[in-house]
Amino acid sequence: MASIPVKKTKGKGEKGGVRSFFSQWRMFFRQFVKHPGMIGSVIPSSATLVDRMLDQVDWRNTRLFVEYGPGVGTFTRPILDRLPADATLLAIDVNLDFVAYLEAEIDDPRLRVVHGSAADVRRFIKEAGHYQADYVLSGIPFSTLPDGVGAAICAETRTALRSGGAFLIYQYSRYVCRMLTPVFEDVSDSLEWRNIPPCRMIRAVKQEALAQAA
Ligand SMILES: C[S@@+](CC[C@H](N)C(=O)[O-])C[C@H]1O[C@@H](n2cnc3c(N)ncnc32)[C@H](O)[C@@H]1O
Repeated sequence: MASIPVKKTKGKGEKGGVRSFFSQWRMFFRQFVKHPGMIGSVIPSSATLVDRMLDQVDWRNTRLFVEYGPGVGTFTRPILDRLPADATLLAIDVNLDFVAYLEAEIDDPRLRVVHGSAADVRRFIKEAGHYQADYVLSGIPFSTLPDGVGAAICAETRTALRSGGAFLIYQYSRYVCRMLTPVFEDVSDSLEWRNIPPCRMIRAVKQEALAQAA
């Protein structure tokens, strides 16, 4: 996978409105038909799920926020709405069509979109000029990833986070928890019904004391 960020088209600004909404759905559905296992869902996340996931973040103290699997930007735009002016959002997706779509649709100097796998998160963070992330948010469908990839992503993510940082995951099942508990000290989850289908919200925290001792 290429690790080079795709070039930004300057001066376009972000497109909005009903047309944009339908274009996002069309794009998402088309990609689901092409790569069902990689996308894992037939429709993007609901606004309620987005708000509940992002309400967990201490935005004032966030300098680097990483998003895995941004797709058509359902979370990317709300993250940018909340992110401090001097912070960075690093969005990583394996699907080049989504990367190109985001590049064309969102023009924000805080956003860096890269094509590649979340398993390479540490390299992408380094290439973005950072050391560690404050938060990592993931929409990757862990239950349909090839063998070993999910566990590798969880372990790499823990190393990529600062002490006290959190890995926030939205998933249709608790499947990913079996990969999180061996590497994260504190894993919790809850259910959000107002999503199609209802979605689990999982939070894995890299605890300060244990992270320093490791
Ligand atoms: C269910 S979609 C989530 C889209 C969007 N964030 C949302 O909430 O509507 C899953 C996304 O994960 C991406 N993906 C799958 N495996 C990945 C991996 N190993 N690294 C990065 N992105 C991945 C897919 O290309 C897709 O964009």
